[in-house]
Amino acid sequence: MKKLAIITGITAGIGLATARALADDGFEIYGIARNAEKLGALDVAMVGSEVCDLAVEADVKGCLSDLDLRPWSLAVLVNNAGGLDPIGRFDHIDLGVTNHTMMLNGLAPIFVSKRFYSAVLAAPGCTGRIVQITSGAALRPIAGWTSYCMSKAAMWMGTQVMAEEMDVARCQVMALSPGVVATAMQAQIRNATEATMPGVAWFRQMAADDKLATPAAPASWLRALLRDEAAGRRAFPHGESVDLFGS
Ligand SMILES: NC(=O)c1ccc[n+]([C@@H]2O[C@H](COP(=O)([O-])OP(=O)(O)OC[C@H]3O[C@@H](n4cnc5c(N)ncnc54)[C@H](OP(=O)(O)O)[C@@H]3O)[C@@H](O)[C@H]2O)c1
Repeated sequence: MKKLAIITGITAGIGLATARALADDGFEIYGIARNAEKLGALDVAMVGSEVCDLAVEADVKGCLSDLDLRPWSLAVLVNNAGGLDPIGRFDHIDLGVTNHTMMLNGLAPIFVSKRFYSAVLAAPGCTGRIVQITSGAALRPIAGWTSYCMSKAAMWMGTQVMAEEMDVARCQVMALSPGVVATAMQAQIRNATEATMPGVAWFRQMAADDKLATPAAPASWLRALLRDEAAGRRAFPHGESVDLFGS
């Protein structure tokens, strides 16, 4: 069976680990990144790639516009690219930066999914799976993270609507909250001040206690899910949000 994984934010962290894990399992990889140099330097073999800044409307509109899924029987889209900016109280945040984060975390995963879903419908032999990388911040307020919480909440609600509307015989969608993972994003969090993010000490303590998951952990979880589904051992959790924190 020919399998394709399309991964946004493939250049680092959870996206890169996911590309490696799925490539190991026989998936062909299609990478989406904002930085052409980093994309070109990746040690993951790719059947295709595109440069898109997913915080920029024009790039989001063009993303996956030429996607033809007819060669594959399974295609998985992992909407992983994301960002936290700006960390800060709501009465100090910058509208322009928040707008970028709303596009990147909130709108782009829905619009990239729209392109992907259309391509699945146009390829009768191909089944689609969409994995939206979300966060506990989609469901719980965290002081200092107005933009991040709003944008992930928007993505999660959009995802639930997509799940209601989708032809589940052709395509399914889930959200995956990866836990607290040792990536550049966690380093950015630990660098925040108490003034901009009152709960920062908890994240510093998690790192000091060596309690962060590796990026390979959510990647392995996803690989196992896709393996189990292919073997008929587990159903894809369509419409659900799975949280790996503490798992
Ligand atoms: N780490 C955690 O504890 C944690 C917890 C919950 C949820 N998450 C979610 O996990 C996902 C991956 O984050 P991570 O922790 O792996 O962070 P990361 O190491 O900072 O990686 C983020 C990835 O997204 C890309 N990206 C950022 N802005 C982009 C843009 N405007 N257009 C296209 N790509 C962009 C980055 O590209 P560059 O290499 O060019 O920067 C990078 O490849 C995010 O959606 C995040 O919200 C992470």
